[in-house]
Amino acid sequence: MSGFPEIRLRRLRQSAGVRRMLDAPLPGLEKFIWPVFVAPGRGRCEALSAMPGQFRYSPDTLLKALEKPVADGLGGVLLFGVPDAGVPKDNTGSAAVDPDGVVQRSVRAIRAEFPELPVFTDVCLCAYTEHGHCGPLAAAGRVDNDAALEWLAKAALSHARAGAQAVAPSAMMDGQVQAIRAALDAAGFTDTIIMSYSTKFASAMYGPFREAEGSAPRHGDRRGYQASSANPRLALRESQLDEAEGADILMVKPALFYLDLLAKLRERTELPIAAYNVSGEYAMLCDAAAAGHGNLRGMVRESLSAIARAGADIIISYWASRYNELLRD
Ligand code: PBG
Ligand code: ZN
Repeated sequence: MSGFPEIRLRRLRQSAGVRRMLDAPLPGLEKFIWPVFVAPGRGRCEALSAMPGQFRYSPDTLLKALEKPVADGLGGVLLFGVPDAGVPKDNTGSAAVDPDGVVQRSVRAIRAEFPELPVFTDVCLCAYTEHGHCGPLAAAGRVDNDAALEWLAKAALSHARAGAQAVAPSAMMDGQVQAIRAALDAAGFTDTIIMSYSTKFASAMYGPFREAEGSAPRHGDRRGYQASSANPRLALRESQLDEAEGADILMVKPALFYLDLLAKLRERTELPIAAYNVSGEYAMLCDAAAAGHGNLRGMVRESLSAIARAGADIIISYWASRYNELLRD
């Protein structure tokens, strides 16, 4: 080495104690929202084959599963309904607004048992439409944006009535945030938070989720409404539009393949940003570890630290339920 002073960067990582002092901590469990699947009935706890450690619950077993994470400080829970085969599916997905639907009943149960836990609900129609798209199909086979709005607003309102503190519209319809805000306000739910899936991509990483929820489109794909990974400017405008429509929290989804856009959005808004670490990202690390390609704890920690570094305030992740095993120091 020549020159003075000698620059020795290793000085600042010379020991575990020095590193621990200088490193940013991983986000605590309070920054995590755990996404869960709820199905009707009692006593159900069905393992999801593509997502080891994750289950499809009925409302009663979900309450049990929440006990430990809630005691440990879980930030929130995000509910996805998996209606039974007996629930009628139609072109609009009208069963999504049933006040006695599985999501609405689960919200009431969770609010009664864990009054302090923020409960978020996914607001979409795809689990309830006969074709599996996120809104009704018009004659031409294209999803009818404006017809979807009315039903998304009704679904959101039914969740708020059940007690959800936050609704999370995920259909990627133009105007959905505004329509939901108007419906909530008109019914007096002025405090209900809207966490919009504002920049949601037509991603190949949703496979295990669609399997768990049975919500894959029967034909076609979602590229007519979800954002394109090859058009990042249009994807950022999606979040900007949702902010203008009154969203309280924005979202980038998936997280790991879109860290550039998460970082860009962080510079362009003062709203909180949630990053959705999706099912395929969870499965990818489980499979890599199972194949012996890496240590699960190490891979999970590194990936979540990347999401935090890119600027996420909130992380929606299936790892939330395994925080002690994989993320606790
Ligand atoms: C449905 C919805 C999807 C996800 C969340 N809400 C699937 C999709 O849009 O096809 C994906 C979540 C995940 O993969 O973890 N609107
Ligand atoms: Zn949908």
